Amino acid sequence: MGFDEMDVDLIWQDGEFVDWEDAQVHVLTHGLHYGTGVFEGVRCYDTEKGPAIFRWEEHLDRFYQSGDPYDIEIPYEKEELTEATEELIRRQDLQSCYIRPIAFYGYDMLGLNPESCPVETAIAVWPWGAYLGEEALEEGIDVAVSSWRKYASSQMPTNSKTTGTYVNSVLASQEAKANGYTEAIVLNKEGNVAEGPGENVFLVRDGELYTPGLAESNLDGITRRSVITIAEDLGYTVHDGATVSRSELYTADELFFTGTAAELTPIRSVDDNEIGAGTKGPVTDEIQQRFFEIIERRTDEYDDWFRYL
Ligand SMILES: Cc1ncc(COP(=O)(O)O)c(C=O)c1O
Repeated sequence: MGFDEMDVDLIWQDGEFVDWEDAQVHVLTHGLHYGTGVFEGVRCYDTEKGPAIFRWEEHLDRFYQSGDPYDIEIPYEKEELTEATEELIRRQDLQSCYIRPIAFYGYDMLGLNPESCPVETAIAVWPWGAYLGEEALEEGIDVAVSSWRKYASSQMPTNSKTTGTYVNSVLASQEAKANGYTEAIVLNKEGNVAEGPGENVFLVRDGELYTPGLAESNLDGITRRSVITIAEDLGYTVHDGATVSRSELYTADELFFTGTAAELTPIRSVDDNEIGAGTKGPVTDEIQQRFFEIIERRTDEYDDWFRYL
């Protein structure tokens, strides 16, 4: 579904609420040419206690930190971005939505060093259902190991959500879809598992969980962090500093993706090799059920993960 079919008409741009179609940038924007921007992806859930933003503070922290390697100093306080976001959700009567803050070097000149370019900031919100489809959450998805490798953090920061670096994810995702798969798994330069194009990966083996450590060229996903906590609280051992080889994927008992967009999506095959019984496994199911119980606020636990509107 494209934006035009969605019932949203406001964007917050550099301190103002503007009509959706008026939220424009100049074609000589630095970030458009060189990818010098940072962004976030956050979800607001329709809960029993009204709309609630999941782990807002953590996402905001990562948003500001993402800019550090590029000296992108977001010219607004966290409180201002919080107010703007809440106002966007309220004014458009959304019960649940995806939230996309972005900050980038704007229009001034096109030398590579953007020091004279202003940092422009915007926030958009829109309704967005299950990223990989409702059925994916139940049945699991078919994925393929990408021929595109993830860049190393010695090449570009891997712990920053930088707009330009997402061409790597776009290529992996396009390739997977062109070959008939729902999503890709991307290996790092050493040939071990990094992550999905927009997801972290978890593996279950002999009742324990493994997820690539943060030196494996992956993003420090906030859903990843949340799932580690949830799984440990359920009594599972989680190896969160693992190195996961490509071959371990094929012999895993279970595999799943985590991410703001993908939430907790089971993987039922990799490169046409069935994982476990070829459907959502029991450990994935238990953690996924708990995850949805938490985000729908059917429990009082983890209340400090939510910002109620
Ligand atoms: C490359 C990449 N890895 C992992 C994730 C998952 O991170 P999070 O759970 O914070 O959404 C994302 C999504 O933001 C991503 O873009």
